[in-house]
Amino acid sequence: STYNIGYFVGSLATGSINRILSKALIKLAPECLQFTEIPIKDLPLYSYDYDADFPPAGLALKKSIAESDGLLFISPEYNRSIPGALKNAIDWGSRPWGTNSFARKPTGIIGASVGAIGTAVMQSSMRSVLSFLDAPQLNSPEAYINFKPSAFAEDGTVKDESTADFLTHYMCEYAAFVQRVLDANAEGHI
Ligand code: FNR
Repeated sequence: STYNIGYFVGSLATGSINRILSKALIKLAPECLQFTEIPIKDLPLYSYDYDADFPPAGLALKKSIAESDGLLFISPEYNRSIPGALKNAIDWGSRPWGTNSFARKPTGIIGASVGAIGTAVMQSSMRSVLSFLDAPQLNSPEAYINFKPSAFAEDGTVKDESTADFLTHYMCEYAAFVQRVLDANAEGHI
């Protein structure tokens, strides 16, 4: 089968290293995965005042999540946590109350940082949020990318062999995980 993967890039920066990482992951992913970005930059800041009359940007986000078989979060760590723009998008997708779009969606979390711990603390925060939202997460392998400009071209070509091997392995495991969760959902096991 082919799976539609909706991906979030947690950075709004034009020169984002996480956007470069997203391009690399798409290049290296198995052919059974097709990717659509779920944009976050034009969402207003969420408030429950919007719940009574959800705006088009919020509805579009929820529709994109609903149409995705799996979700992939590719994000930097800002001040040891989830970037505000990404957390805002997650808050939008979780509401109105009773319509949490993340429930039972298979998810993967990966991020690149210029620092040595490679977004580990952001990913830990994300796991708490996604657990609360009932989204199954790929637990292993973990992927903490210490971004070296020499390893990536702007278009996402990975120039370093061990990095390319690792990212290829990550996407294979992610694809298998998406398949397992969808199978389990279909059989009503979760
Ligand atoms: C950072 N950076 C950073 N790095 C890290 O490893 N841990 C952190 O907590 C932070 N905190 C942080 C806060 C803010 C506001 C900024 C702008 C940056 C550095 C970060 O890894 C670097 O800027 C990356 O380039 C961010 O990824 P994008 O935005 O280029 O994809």
